[in-house]
Amino acid sequence: MIKTCIFDLDGVLVDTAKYHYLAWRRLASGLGFDFSEHHNEALKGVSRMASLDILLGVGGMRGRFSQAEKEELAARKNGWYVEYISRMAPDEILPGVVRFLDDVRRAGIKIALGSASRNAPLILARTGLSSFFDAIVDGSMISAAKPDPQVFLMGAELTGAEPAACVVFEDAEAGIEAAARAGMRSVGVGTSPTLARATIRIDGFEGFEVAKMKELL
Ligand code: BG6
Ligand code: MG
Repeated sequence: MIKTCIFDLDGVLVDTAKYHYLAWRRLASGLGFDFSEHHNEALKGVSRMASLDILLGVGGMRGRFSQAEKEELAARKNGWYVEYISRMAPDEILPGVVRFLDDVRRAGIKIALGSASRNAPLILARTGLSSFFDAIVDGSMISAAKPDPQVFLMGAELTGAEPAACVVFEDAEAGIEAAARAGMRSVGVGTSPTLARATIRIDGFEGFEVAKMKELL
């Protein structure tokens, strides 16, 4: 029985990973080092401050900055990121997503957002996705980041579903682990080998249907 589908946002419903990358790379460049797309993989699903620590590690700068300086660096990155996502439009929703969300709704299954991002409400507003959700849990509502299960457990509670009746859609390893810790099944979205621990994996939402999900899970 599936009562709620919980969706991560960045990299699952929209391709905002590219904007996160552009903003982090701009920060690294200002600090005098290169930050590659390969390095950026390690930041997916990771909270803002933890991402900064990983980035500073790549530049050999971990331990160089005080907490206040780190907050300032993260705020600078976020300012650029917000500039990029403020220009987003509905055509940046990933292929097949709107059709699948409609299919989930028609099947009588609740829809929740489980995102680590504090910018989730802006992205949902810019892309017109807000109206699909029965519950929204974003980075401003949680105290522990993925792989802690808090974000998904809150989504389950807000939609009145037991964890065992929830399915999480995730593109990041930390999110797949959070789902497992919450006692939920997961669908890994994308082609990354880091999704091996998901219950099932799909390349994307094109051609994916609720009937198929029920059959595979
Ligand atoms: C996650 C992203 O969804 O949100 C991470 O995958 C990001 O890359 C995290 O660091 C926090 O996002 P924000 O928008 O609050 O900095
Ligand atoms: Mg993600």
